[in-house]
Amino acid sequence: MCGIIGITSNKEVTTRIINSLKKLEYRGYDSAGLATLKDGFINEVKCEGRVEALEKNISKTNVQGEIGIGHVRWATHGKPSTINAHPHSSETVSVVHNGIIENSTILKKILEKKGYKFKSQTDTEVIAHLVTDYLKKNNLKNTIIKVLNKLHGSFALGIIFKDYPNLIVGARRGSPLAVGYGPNENYLGSDSYALKSMTNKVSYLNDGEFCLIKENQVEFFDTKGNKANKKILNLSQDNQNYDKGDYKHFMAKEIDEQPTTIKNCVNEYIDKISKQINIYNLPWKTKEISSIVLIGCGTAYHSCLIAKYWFEEHTNLDVTVDIASEFRYRKLKFKNDCLYVFVSQSGETADTYAALDICKKNKMKTCSIVNVVESSIARDSELVLPIHCGPEIGVASTKAFLGQMLVLYMLCLKLSFDMKIINKKNYQEKIKNLLSLSNLCKKTLLTDSKIQKTSRTFIEAKGSMFLGRGYSFPIALEGALKLKELAYVHAEGYPAGEMKHGPLALIEEGMPVVVIAPRDDYYKKTISNMQEVIARGAKVLLITNKSKDEIHSENIWETIEVENLSEDLFPFLTTIPLQKLAYYSAMHKGYDIDKPRNLAKSVTVE
Ligand code: AGP
Ligand code: GLU
Repeated sequence: MCGIIGITSNKEVTTRIINSLKKLEYRGYDSAGLATLKDGFINEVKCEGRVEALEKNISKTNVQGEIGIGHVRWATHGKPSTINAHPHSSETVSVVHNGIIENSTILKKILEKKGYKFKSQTDTEVIAHLVTDYLKKNNLKNTIIKVLNKLHGSFALGIIFKDYPNLIVGARRGSPLAVGYGPNENYLGSDSYALKSMTNKVSYLNDGEFCLIKENQVEFFDTKGNKANKKILNLSQDNQNYDKGDYKHFMAKEIDEQPTTIKNCVNEYIDKISKQINIYNLPWKTKEISSIVLIGCGTAYHSCLIAKYWFEEHTNLDVTVDIASEFRYRKLKFKNDCLYVFVSQSGETADTYAALDICKKNKMKTCSIVNVVESSIARDSELVLPIHCGPEIGVASTKAFLGQMLVLYMLCLKLSFDMKIINKKNYQEKIKNLLSLSNLCKKTLLTDSKIQKTSRTFIEAKGSMFLGRGYSFPIALEGALKLKELAYVHAEGYPAGEMKHGPLALIEEGMPVVVIAPRDDYYKKTISNMQEVIARGAKVLLITNKSKDEIHSENIWETIEVENLSEDLFPFLTTIPLQKLAYYSAMHKGYDIDKPRNLAKSVTVE
């Protein structure tokens, strides 16, 4: 899951490659590199770490050119290092690659027998040598067709050639790839976002296609080498704010933006005059749907888990929730009356995209809930419901989680109303509650100082547990995920009622345990489970709601009270202190909060 950029022009390209790579860092940031072609020579600069480091190296080496390719890496094969950074070059070609070549070990052996010498541990390097080898006996187009046929797995590729001075070859299978059009120059990019500063005219390669990009011409071909026609699309103007402002980290800014996220999203979906949910463009009749499958990864998956409770409560639909990487390989039985919903902030997550692709191939009804509306998942689904929360830069998802839950909740209410399950009074009451959610979220954000204090205990402990029931169970999973990914400490989310079936054995004196127990239908049961962990020495941080009723429990270490609201909306508030808990824990440890180790914002490998 890396970022690819390529530019062929009649002007210098290095600075623009660097600038585009900075934009692509959300796809990977363990190493970076670029290669240009000048006076018949391929010049390569690579380094471990961020694009900033690459920029410094380039200023020392003075690499220039009017054609070049660049890459930010998220290592799959071979540790992050300068030698494993892309591009990977032979004497005649240089390659950048996103994805995994599954048969690289076999191909490497064959190429080594032929005398090719390998420098890196990556799967990618075989492509450079394979292209070099085929070029000896084939023309360029046939070489590309034959090489692509040899490769197993998924990839997006950018290749430049010593002997084709103004040509970039792009090719994709599984991973997305875009081509951009400029004045006397053309571009290749992992996504349109990377190209936006240079052009608003783009085309997307379909799966299996390749393209030849020259400064004044772009040609597309299918797997067999037949010419493919392409539409040129106009990208929307980008007025988004990518600035940290006065914040130290994007994550802190994004947490604080959540009241605005809610407000914007609610305003987009709730008609100001009729106060109805305005999802009018459903491409199917509601009577054609009797079940729903909600699919996502990570935080997006957690939003689906919460939505399961809503759909079960407010509709008659059979509801299944699935992790995309599991869904895509199961022996599934597709049903025509099922709606498949794909939830993804980036809209580029490889597993979620593959799950969507399988549903499309089986002619299923598909809907996506995304933040990036020009993403692959949005482009390829029948119905797109954007979450309208603006760019989310921090790798840890915060405001997008709220946006995903919100759109799922509104979709659920809309279906319930159209299916005549919820009555008008209830429906309007729920919409009224949504209109007040932003303000309550703002107040909940003020629970800061207690969280800062307690977070130290979480980083000093051997591990921690997050417990909840009902809607609060997925919130527990999400709280534990946030702490793991940001503070690199072990944390486990569990349904509170399951503790006695095994995990209770983990509880020992002083172990921090977060219990999420707003006063809902599950409250009393969760409080009993809380007693059970306190009795065994746990230090409980209780997240509940403000109420006149006392909490009938002793020895609670710390309590955080979120605002009071309708039961089914508690997840929007109870998640906020957990985001902050993870944030402050990482801050105490001095970790890179916006770019945690080993992760990437957009996960484009499977
Ligand atoms: C969340 O904090 C994560 N970084 C991660 O789990 C993320 O939600 C997941 O990779 C899915 O991404 P997507 O929403 O862009 O598909
Ligand atoms: N598999 C390749 C590598 O490990 C590409 C990984 C990526 O997509 O960044 O270098």
